[in-house]
Formats: sequence, C-alpha cells, structure tokens
Amino acid sequence: MPATVKKPTPIKDLQRVFHYTDTQSRKPTRDNDPYEYQAGWNNRFQSEVIPGTLPAGQNNPQAPRFGLYTEGITYSAFAAPRAHNYSTYMYRVRPSAAHGGYITNLETKAHIENCFLSLNPKVEPLVQQAEWSPFPLPPDDEKIDFVDGLHTLGGSGDPNLREGVALYVYMINADMDHRAFCNTDGDFLLVAQLGNLDIQTEFGKIFLQPGEICVIQRGVRFAIRLGPGVKQARGYITEVWGSMWELPDLGPIGGHGLANPRDFLYPVAHIDENLHENWLIVNKANGKYNAIKLDHSPFDVVAWHGNVIPYKYDLTKFASQNATSVDHTDPSVNCVLTAKSRDPNTPLVDFLWFGPRWDVASNTFRPPYFHRNSATEFLACLYGKGLGRSDAFLPGGGSVEISHTPHGGFDEPYQTEMQLMVNEPRRILENQMTIMVESSRSFLFTEYARGGCGTFHSQGTDPKVWDALPDRFSNYPGIKQILEKVKTDKATRRAQLEEYYDDNKLAAAVGVSTNGSANGNA
Ligand code: FE2
Repeated sequence: MPATVKKPTPIKDLQRVFHYTDTQSRKPTRDNDPYEYQAGWNNRFQSEVIPGTLPAGQNNPQAPRFGLYTEGITYSAFAAPRAHNYSTYMYRVRPSAAHGGYITNLETKAHIENCFLSLNPKVEPLVQQAEWSPFPLPPDDEKIDFVDGLHTLGGSGDPNLREGVALYVYMINADMDHRAFCNTDGDFLLVAQLGNLDIQTEFGKIFLQPGEICVIQRGVRFAIRLGPGVKQARGYITEVWGSMWELPDLGPIGGHGLANPRDFLYPVAHIDENLHENWLIVNKANGKYNAIKLDHSPFDVVAWHGNVIPYKYDLTKFASQNATSVDHTDPSVNCVLTAKSRDPNTPLVDFLWFGPRWDVASNTFRPPYFHRNSATEFLACLYGKGLGRSDAFLPGGGSVEISHTPHGGFDEPYQTEMQLMVNEPRRILENQMTIMVESSRSFLFTEYARGGCGTFHSQGTDPKVWDALPDRFSNYPGIKQILEKVKTDKATRRAQLEEYYDDNKLAAAVGVSTNGSANGNA
C-alpha cells in the first residue's frame, strides 16, 4: 500500500504565512490583487493598452499612432554608463507640457521637512532611544488624502544637494481626487502597514497591501486611493536623494536568495476612461509643494517602454538566509533593497526585512547582542507582535536609535535566553512583519516627529530597563581573589620580562658574570 502523502492546507491569510509559498498559489500575486504585472528586475520593460501602439524600430516617429504624442522622461544623465542609464518613452494622449499653469506654495495639512542640515533649527538629533506609539490616523470628520497625510519624521542631507535620505509616515482616510503626486526630489519606497492601497501611476496600476513595498521613482506621477472597503490607511516611506534603490549584491550567497529579481512586479499600461477632467499635479520640489493645473488626465499613457517604471515586491516572498552552525548573523543578511552613498564601502540606506524564519544556530546566544552601531536604525512593525522593545511598539508605531546609541533586547525571552541554552531548531518571528530602515547617516528629526505627531515618547526607552540585567560578574565565586591573582601574576611576568632588557639582571638570572664567564668559575 503506498504511503499517504499529507498535503498541507493552504494558508490564505498572508499575515499568517511563514512564507508566500504557504499559500500554495500558482499566481505571483495575492488572490485579491486585481492587476496584471510584468515580472523582473531592472529591465527595460514595455507595455501597450492597444497592441501595435509602440513604434517599431524607433522612438520618435513623425506621427505616433492614433495621434498620440511622444514624451520622454529621463532619470539619469544622458550619457550615463549603460548600466546606470535610465529613461522611459511614453506615447500619450496629451504631452505633460500641455497644462494650465502653476500654483506655488500649495496649502497643505502635510508636514514636509527636507532640509536636514545642521543650520536648520527645526531639526534635531534624538539623543535618547526614541519611540512612537502608532502614528495617529486622521479623524473621521476630516478628509485627508496622501498629499495632506504625508509627514516627515527625520533624515539626513538635502534634496537640493542630491544627497541624503528622509523618513516619512502617511496616514490617510481619503482618495486623491483628481490630484496626482509627483516627487521631483527623490525616489519613494512605500511600505503599506494598514489598509490596501490602489496606486495609479503613469505606467499603470499597482495594488499594495500590508507586507508589500512599492518604489516610485523621482519625477513619475501617481495617485493613491484606498483599496476596496478600506476606510483608512497608514504606512512608511523612505526617500533617497541622489541615489536609487537597488538589489544588494549577494557575495558568497551566489545568484539567488534574499529578495529574488523575478519577484519584483511592474505594471502594465493603463489609461483613464475619462481623459477630459480637471486635474492637479502636486509636485514636491525641494521639500515644498507646488502644483500644475491640467484640463485632462495625467494618466493617458497608451504605450511606454523604458526602465524608469514603479514596481512592487511582496515581503512574504523574501528568501531568508542565516547562520546554520554558530553565532548571530549580522542583520545585513536581511537586506531587501539598498541605496548607495558616495562612499563605496557604506550604503546610504538599507531597507531590511524581519519576517518568519528558522532559528538554528547551535551553542550560540541567538538574539542580537548588545550593540552601539554606527548606523541609525528605525524599526517599525507592520503587523503582529513585531520586534519591538516595549509595549509602546505596536504595529503602526516605530522606534529609533541614531548612531552609537547603546541598546539591546530586554524583554522576558531575551533575559531568559542565556538560561535556556537553546540548541533546538525553532521557528521565530512568526505571524508578524517588521521592517528596518538602517542608514549610515546620523538622522535629525523634525518637530512633527519630536512631538507634533502626538505619539512620541519623549523620554524614549527608560534606560532603567537594563538595570534588570544583574551584574553577575561581581558575584562570581572568588572573583576578587581571581582578579588579585591576575594582578600578582602579571606583576611577576612583567618583572621576569624586565630581566631580558637589562644585561646585568639577565646575566644574574642565568648565573653568568657580566664579563661573560659563569658565576663562581671566574
Ligand atoms: Fe539595533
């Protein structure tokens, strides 16, 4: 009789899976994702609403098909090396240059701060370990869309210098209604924490759910709406200036692992049904909003080809690597995307994943050791219990340590881990997803982050929590005598060594007279 093969039950709740493969789905997207995508990484993709719209063998035909206009968007210098050359050609109903004028200093309820230089008195370092309870969602009686619901927490550098990074949260309860956003400063990496988002870009639509991330490049126009049935949404954004999000090199890991290139999904061309309504393009330029008035939809690109295309990635697909013999592996092994700095040895910022994985190292204290890292670490839990260091750290909140702020774990499992002497394989970090934004820069924080948001814990983590860690060394049996013996032995060794540097002492030690003959035989 053949052995019965027990087929595991598919897990459809993505917040309960150990890995995306637990869904047993053959589709690259979650069941409720309504859109079609192209898979790959860093390719030149192409897409058409109507087949045959893209000109064959050229980019600039005398008359694009269907009376469309050719428009290009560049992202790199014209003559950048091929591997770093980014641009997209669009064939659209109206060129972006057709518009009804500009509105400067657009009024907003957002808190945008992009100047993270020491001369800006509005930004400060956080010398203590800081943390935030969940960032406040908009009140029901106020409609806040993405333009008004974007708030800068901190960062380093300045977009005008094409140098640096900024961290934001967004909290919204309304769709962007005939408003599109265009960030001319840098590239946004969006992380959905609460509520599904329906993101329309010039190149097509992206559905984003908690646990998924999306990158929208500098200069690309997009509108964010709430997904079906979603009343409010919250998430995190990391913006890079003068750099771009890349997959990290894998070194000895080889060609596969961590975030795999084929799991990145790019949209397909899509145009609005009604192309003749009034729209406002809200530009973020050097950290300030201005706007462009249109009497037509900005989402009218019938066909496109290029490599400046927004994309998304499902963090539950991350192929985790870790220690399989001894010792805690550095968290760099959890890097999903990285952005280079001008220093070839140090990234500007890494975006890291902490999801479910096996924990198998033997004879090892498995949790992170106490540390004072040169990097700034911002941690946020997307769902589940997360990796927070206190009850204040709930999904939708955050915690931070700027460079060289001493810290470590202190919760109950951490304190008992040494006694447990765990050597068994175990699954850890299940039913939760935590992200970390780790930057080589020492962040400065905005007034919004330091109190304006209303959920900042101004005292940070109480350093007293570590007083629960006893001084075991001082109570070790005989430790005073051991230290005394070390001192005595060291003095004896030093005295012995001293003899080698003095001819007379050395001669006396070996019983030889200073004229070269042995003592007593002269
Ligand atoms: Fe840390």
